[in-house]
Amino acid sequence: MTKDHTMATVLPALTPVEETLYVTLAGRALDSRSRFSILGDTLSDEIALEIGYNPDDIVVPRAKAADVAMRSKMLDDVVRGFIARNPDAVVLDLGAGLDTRVVRVAPPETVDWYDVDLPGVVKVREQVLPHRANVHAVAADVTDPGWLDPLPRDRAAVIVCDGLLPFLTEAEFTALLNRLTGHFPRGEVAFNNYPRYAVRILKRMRSTRALGALVRHGGFDDPHEPERWDPDLELVEEMLAARLPAPPGTPMVYRLTNRLIGLSPALARKFTAIDRYRF
Ligand SMILES: C[S@@+](CC[C@H](N)C(=O)[O-])C[C@H]1O[C@@H](n2cnc3c(N)ncnc32)[C@H](O)[C@@H]1O
Repeated sequence: MTKDHTMATVLPALTPVEETLYVTLAGRALDSRSRFSILGDTLSDEIALEIGYNPDDIVVPRAKAADVAMRSKMLDDVVRGFIARNPDAVVLDLGAGLDTRVVRVAPPETVDWYDVDLPGVVKVREQVLPHRANVHAVAADVTDPGWLDPLPRDRAAVIVCDGLLPFLTEAEFTALLNRLTGHFPRGEVAFNNYPRYAVRILKRMRSTRALGALVRHGGFDDPHEPERWDPDLELVEEMLAARLPAPPGTPMVYRLTNRLIGLSPALARKFTAIDRYRF
């Protein structure tokens, strides 16, 4: 892997939807500075500073940073598990932003990895992320039908979307799922949950209203709902963060809170969760 950290990074103007990547980048950066870091993704912190974006300048509460880091870790684990079972898999990270997942997962060279995002974001990705064999940046709007065509059709695929769903309408996200399950012979799709109440709060609260205005999906409460969007999908696992073992060093107050939340799946799914489907 090579990367020239001395290179000055010239940022193109990003659209408001593209700029949403800063929230998750800042979350992982701030998490990496914590004594109880969940993800330990110090590269995210380096990238944030390199592009002139100080994670301290954005109001990301500690709980939000931990939530972002936790769901990144859970999706990393989905990808790692799939690659371990399918060493010649194709990985798709849709709406990849400036996420360093490919560095964290470090797939073998038998894997082809596609980071897909809108053109402005891909321009920045190419400047700030390390180059690596078999990693491909795809500049595309995932709602366009054509971007998938050049990707292999004969290999198992693991597809993750971290924070993409809210920016597509339900019809667009459904059409995307249908195209993905139609393109690859088999695989898995995993994304973070978006409870409907969380979408409503995002749109109403003054501090998040600007972000809420970009949200076009109403969210979903039942992890089986995406099976109705695409009948090829079958829910394999609902990963509820509150029910997972706490990372080492987690303060007792967080452990106890999580344990209480985790007593009820209905409550736990209102917090961080990843839904994993096979097709
Ligand atoms: C909240 S950010 C999450 C970024 C990244 N997954 C992460 O965890 O840091 C949402 C990302 O989705 C991308 N996005 C939104 N709509 C998109 C679309 N129609 N096609 C491709 N990417 C899209 C944005 O550009 C942005 O990078």
